[in-house]
Amino acid sequence: MSTSLTVNGETRDIDLPDDVPLLWVLRDQLNLTGTKFGCGVAACGACTVHIDGEAVRSCQVALGDVWGAVTTIEGIGSPDALHKVQQAWVDHQVAQCGYCQSGQIMQAVTLLEQTPNPTDAEIDSAMSGNLCRCGTYPRIRAAIRAASQAQEG
Ligand code: FES
Ligand code: FES
Repeated sequence: MSTSLTVNGETRDIDLPDDVPLLWVLRDQLNLTGTKFGCGVAACGACTVHIDGEAVRSCQVALGDVWGAVTTIEGIGSPDALHKVQQAWVDHQVAQCGYCQSGQIMQAVTLLEQTPNPTDAEIDSAMSGNLCRCGTYPRIRAAIRAASQAQEG
């Protein structure tokens, strides 16, 4: 069955069953491999994307249940410039192995849209479902603070 999805601003026709997880659609059908498979059970956040601006675990959303426009890590910047959160990640050299980081960034983007000037406690709460086995949490916090200041300026 064919389904039409808006992904990173483009309409894409997907010829897969409705119960296929969005994560598989993005990676295997659309070749958007920036979104990662970590656990498959909503326990790590590596697969985080946005649906209508909301951070969701794409391993847990079936294709047939996608309710709005999908944005992945490939879609948050512009062709000419990184998103300010991506830039803060670069400036703070956040990534170690990098595997979790697209999910971390997608979660951080929604945090800053909802709470432009978060406290450390709000950062920790919003990011608590995104695991990093390399322990980059202090740099993640620093980058989120920097991105918050960048959007104020
Ligand atoms: S792969 Fe989706 S939360 Fe871990
Ligand atoms: S940078 Fe390696 S898992 Fe987070």
